[in-house]
Amino acid sequence: MLTMQTLCPHPIIQAPMAGGATTPELVAAVSNAGGLGSLAAPLLAPLAIIEQAEHIRRLTDKPFAINLFVQTRPQIDFAALESAKLLLQGVCRELGWDSLPTPTRWCEDFEAQLDALITARPAVASFTFDVLHGSQMQRLHDAGILVVGTATNLPEAIVWQAMGADAVCLQGVEAGGHRGTFIGAQKDSSLGISALLAACRPHLHIPVIAAGGIMDGKAITDALAAGADMVQMGSAFLTTRESGINQAYKQRLLEARSDTTRQTRAFSGRIARGLDNHFMQVMAEVADKVPAYPIQNALTGAIRAAAAKDNRTEFMSLWVGQGVAASRDLPVAELMAVLVAEMQA
Ligand SMILES: Cc1cc2nc3c(=O)[nH]c(=O)nc-3n(C[C@H](O)[C@H](O)[C@H](O)COP(=O)(O)O)c2cc1C
Repeated sequence: MLTMQTLCPHPIIQAPMAGGATTPELVAAVSNAGGLGSLAAPLLAPLAIIEQAEHIRRLTDKPFAINLFVQTRPQIDFAALESAKLLLQGVCRELGWDSLPTPTRWCEDFEAQLDALITARPAVASFTFDVLHGSQMQRLHDAGILVVGTATNLPEAIVWQAMGADAVCLQGVEAGGHRGTFIGAQKDSSLGISALLAACRPHLHIPVIAAGGIMDGKAITDALAAGADMVQMGSAFLTTRESGINQAYKQRLLEARSDTTRQTRAFSGRIARGLDNHFMQVMAEVADKVPAYPIQNALTGAIRAAAAKDNRTEFMSLWVGQGVAASRDLPVAELMAVLVAEMQA
């Protein structure tokens, strides 16, 4: 039987990264190189989850993970929606738009995604934004799938452990992308990975995965020495050749010479870390007023899609962690080999 510790030769999990980064080629290349690749499926329709898992299996026979956001469909208050659109009016004007289109869809149906994930049967299923119900956990375990939950504070880590998770991924504040916080205010879960590990490790008997700002072999060995069993690295894989992100976004990451990231809820309604840009700056004053995820995320979808099409990075969500200046432009196999060599050095 697979356990978290016997999944792969190296203690390296490539973080799931929604929005196109985690192509089947990227996931399979990480698993083939002795890490655990993760497919980000939060924005994928159920059929696409199954198809992408099949694609990964054509490229590797090694274990991999599939990740979802635990979420419910939002209730839409159309009057509040019009106010939310007004907050984006300045950005629309800059883009030359008269108005912002109302999305026809707010998010995927979580239960249908979970059914698809169970059909796809990856070795590991990882979750963020909330905790699973007992029956959902049981279905995954009955299917022989290991479950990893994301925690940004001690109460969340304890809840995942009590629910029967096979491992908990501690997400430090350095991390790129969205905070997984589900207990307490997102802005209050602000420990860096070292402090979070120190706070949580003594209370956890399940394997612990450290995430946030880990970009090289030294940071991996430091996290393991501080009590982590594995690490989860996202930003380090964003600039690999197999990553599916927009080229202009990739270029901005490779050009960063220092930590030029900041947290915002302006893009999606949930706090997330990315490169500071014009959109974040013009929305800074109203960022606390935008509707919660997934409504704001869906509302800004048209802006982000148009910006990506025209390579206008100042209007794109350039999610990345505080380690951005250490980004490397390498194929996955080479990055993995470098990380392993750095760990042994
Ligand atoms: C572009 C991007 C997208 C992300 N999307 C997801 C996601 O879909 N699901 C998830 O659990 N975590 C997601 N994360 C967070 C990662 O799981 C992880 O916490 C983070 O990458 C670790 O920090 P690092 O980027 O500094 O390595 C994302 C991170 C980035 C950078």
